Amino acid sequence: MVSADYDRTADLRALDATRAGVRGLVAAGIAELPRVFLLPPGERVDAEAAGGGGTLEIPVVDLGGDREQAVEAVRRAGEQWGFFQVVGHAVPTLSTEAAAAAVRGFHEGEREEVKRRLYSREPGRAVKYHCNFDLYQSRVANWRDTLYCRMAPDPPAPDELPDSCREALLEYSEHVKGLGNTLFELLSEALGLSPSYLTDIDCNQGQILLCHYYPPCPEPELAIGTSRHSDSGFLTVLLQDHVGGLQILHEDQWIDVPPIPGALVVNIGDLLQLISNDRFKSVEHRVLAKNDGPRISIACFFSTHFHPSSTRIYGPIKELLYEENPPLYRETLVRDFMKYYYSKGLDGKSAISHFRL
Ligand code: OGA
Ligand code: NI
Repeated sequence: MVSADYDRTADLRALDATRAGVRGLVAAGIAELPRVFLLPPGERVDAEAAGGGGTLEIPVVDLGGDREQAVEAVRRAGEQWGFFQVVGHAVPTLSTEAAAAAVRGFHEGEREEVKRRLYSREPGRAVKYHCNFDLYQSRVANWRDTLYCRMAPDPPAPDELPDSCREALLEYSEHVKGLGNTLFELLSEALGLSPSYLTDIDCNQGQILLCHYYPPCPEPELAIGTSRHSDSGFLTVLLQDHVGGLQILHEDQWIDVPPIPGALVVNIGDLLQLISNDRFKSVEHRVLAKNDGPRISIACFFSTHFHPSSTRIYGPIKELLYEENPPLYRETLVRDFMKYYYSKGLDGKSAISHFRL
């Protein structure tokens, strides 16, 4: 696979220079995977066999019912799974459908010149489009393109968002912000803190939408849609369509996160594991490449200031510590954490272990 005569960087540069992503390759009719996408033989997954996980299923929490029950369900899910699906969440179906359709429209139909103008990996840019944020850091390129929109803090000027999805994404991000605030309240209570604790320390201040597009893959068993990783922020709310392919690593088994119409997927990120001193788990997950599709997903990351100049520091929440439960992590500048996370690329190397005491 890795032979001396193979200039991987040159291939990556060539792919990058098209500014048209994986979708561009598929639109051009490639029948065989370019080498940069090939998984090493030992890491290939049989989509049919993987993700069974016996009878285990990730929890589904109804946010529209009894509050005490919701707090308890969120506590259990956050501690034992790090992942759950929510229903009764008050994000209108019309809005989720419009957002998913807009994202598909962007990836498939947006004018080439607009995509070329947006194509970037610059950290400071609020709105950008790219094929793999970590293209040059990762071992294996992922079969995925992404429209990245930083919605808070400092929302983009409306004309920075592409015409094809401006309205739908602005509306969807408002709804998800509301859901995020509800979830932070429930998670605060689940930790035995006041309901506003997590928002008081700004866990909801940053909001980034990653609007992913996974084109149908001609040789899905040789590629991966998203390499195994855990999310960097406090919390992620994910909208996935009906195609499937998302899996989480639970007790050493890959378990499917089945698409449920109307549900949203929620998972704990590294920073919430860190400040909860390991009460809540930031769990590894991945997305398989598939021959059907395309698959659309929109991941909304809640974090704090993503600014490189941020001086915000987080460590294990003092109220949760006592003699038998000492801090497991050192206090960390968010910007150092983010820098480290982005420098290593995805791929199952945990970022928070780097900050463990
Ligand atoms: C992510 C992610 C999953 C998906 O963006 O971090 O894990 O289903 N996405 O696209
Ligand atoms: Ni993720």
